Amino acid sequence: MKICVVGTGYVGLVGAAIFSDWGNRIIGVDIDVEKIERIKGGEMPIFEPGLSEIVLKNIKNGNLSFTTSLSEGMSDAEIVFICVGTPESDTGHADLSAIWKVSQEIGQNLGDYKVVVVKSTVPVGTNEKIKRIIKENLRIQTEFDVVSNPEFLREGYSVEDMMDPDRTVIGSDSERALSVMRRLYEHLGKPIVECDFRSAEMIKYASNAFLATKISFINEMGQLCERADANVNVVAKGMGLDNRIGPRFLNAGIGYGGSCFPKDVEALYKTSTDQAYDFKLIRGVMEVNSMQKDHFVSKITRYFGKNLSGKTFAILGLAFKQNTDDIRESVAIKVAKLLRGFGANLRVYDPEAMYNAKKELGDAGITYCLDKYEAIEGSDSLVILTEWPEFASLDLGRIKGMLKTSTIFDGRNLLDSEKVESLGFVYFCVGKRTNGLELLDKRPTGHPGVILKNGR
Ligand code: UDX
Repeated sequence: MKICVVGTGYVGLVGAAIFSDWGNRIIGVDIDVEKIERIKGGEMPIFEPGLSEIVLKNIKNGNLSFTTSLSEGMSDAEIVFICVGTPESDTGHADLSAIWKVSQEIGQNLGDYKVVVVKSTVPVGTNEKIKRIIKENLRIQTEFDVVSNPEFLREGYSVEDMMDPDRTVIGSDSERALSVMRRLYEHLGKPIVECDFRSAEMIKYASNAFLATKISFINEMGQLCERADANVNVVAKGMGLDNRIGPRFLNAGIGYGGSCFPKDVEALYKTSTDQAYDFKLIRGVMEVNSMQKDHFVSKITRYFGKNLSGKTFAILGLAFKQNTDDIRESVAIKVAKLLRGFGANLRVYDPEAMYNAKKELGDAGITYCLDKYEAIEGSDSLVILTEWPEFASLDLGRIKGMLKTSTIFDGRNLLDSEKVESLGFVYFCVGKRTNGLELLDKRPTGHPGVILKNGR
C-alpha cells in the first residue's frame, strides 16, 4: 500500500518505519526541514530502541522516504495518516491547531479518493470536525473518508508495541475506508475494534485515564500502607495475581509523568466538564498524582530540615520513566526543582536524559555527572527518581563510604529495603514503613532536621 504519514514525532516516525517494514511504500512528511534532513541521514530525533535500524533498512530498500512537501507526500498515497502533536493548551484542553492546519492542507491537496486516518490523540468530536474542514477546503470535488485510529504506543517500547499491538481501534462511518484499514492491519492477527468515530476517540482517553487511575490508586494505597505498617509492593503483587486486576501499572512511586498521561487525563476531565459532568474519579486521580511528589520530598525535608542549602543530593534518574531520554512532565525533574527550591545542590545522572535535563534545569547548583557513582561520590544523600534497571543494581557496599550521611530516598522502590537497612543505611521508599520513617516518627515535632557529622 502507498501511505503518507504527516508528522515525524514519536507516533509518526515509528508508524512510518513499521508500516514500511511491513512492505508498504511510505512517505513521511514534516514541516521541520532540519529534522527531515537528520532522519534521512539516519539520525533519529528521538531515543527509541530498534527504530534507527528499521528506518535505515527501509530507506535503503526504497520503502521509506521523507519530504517537507505535503502535496508531494500525498499525491500517490491511498492512506494519509495525521500524526501531528496535540499538546496541552493553557486551558487544559488539547491544543488542536496543528490538526486543523494539516486538515486544511489535506483538503487543498486532495485529487483522488484517499482515506485520511487520524492517529493523533484528539478529543471526542474532532474527527467529525476534521471531515468538515477537509470538505470545506477541497479544490477538486473528490471523495474521501476519515478514520480514527488512535495509537497506544509506550515510549521506549514503541517499536514492539506497533509491531505487536494488543488491539487496533478503527473508528469510521465508511465500509470502503474500513476495508482499506483492514488490509493494513489484518495480517497482525490481533483483535480489531471497529466502531464509530466518537467511541474510537474515547477509547484512547479512557485507556490512558484508566492506567493513570491504577497508578494513583496504588500510590494512595502506599500512603495507607506507610501508616498501617503494610508493604505496598506485596499488596500490589497480591492484587495483581488476580486475573481481573493484572500486575501491570501497580508500581507505587513518585507519580506518573510523560507527554501523554498528564495531558490526556486532564483533557478527559475537560471533556467531562464541557459536557456538564464532573468526573470525580479522574479529578481525584490528578490530585493524588500531584500530591505524590510532595509526599516524597517531605520525607527529605522532614529528615534534613527545610533549609537544604549547603547540602548536596545525588539524583539518579531525570527521564519521566526508564528507557527514554524524554523529560516532558517528568516528575523526577519536578522533584529536582523542588529540592533546588529548598536550597540543595544536586549531582545528577541519567543514562539517556542528561542533554534534555540540562536544557530544563540549567547549571546553577547542579553538577552533571558521567555515571551513577560519580553523582553519589561526596553527596550527603542519595535520591532515586527514575526506574532505570541499572539503579536497582547499585553496589550498596561501595556507595556506603561515598555518601556523607548513609541515607537513601528511593522514589521508585528499586532497592531491597531489608538489604539496604542491614547495611546500616537510613532508608526511605514509597508505601512501606522503613527505618527512615520509624526514625522520623520518634522525633519530637518541630525537630529541625538531622545534624550532619561535620556540624553543618
Ligand atoms: C503511555 C501509555 O502507556 C501508552 O499506551 C500511550 O500511548 C502513551 O502514554 P508512556 O507515556 O510512554 O505511555 O509511558 P508509560 O510506560 O505508560 O508510563 C507513564 C508514567 O507512569 C511514567 O512516568 C511511569 O514512570 C509511571 N508509572 C508507570 C508508574 O509510576 N507506575 C507504574 O506502575 C507504571
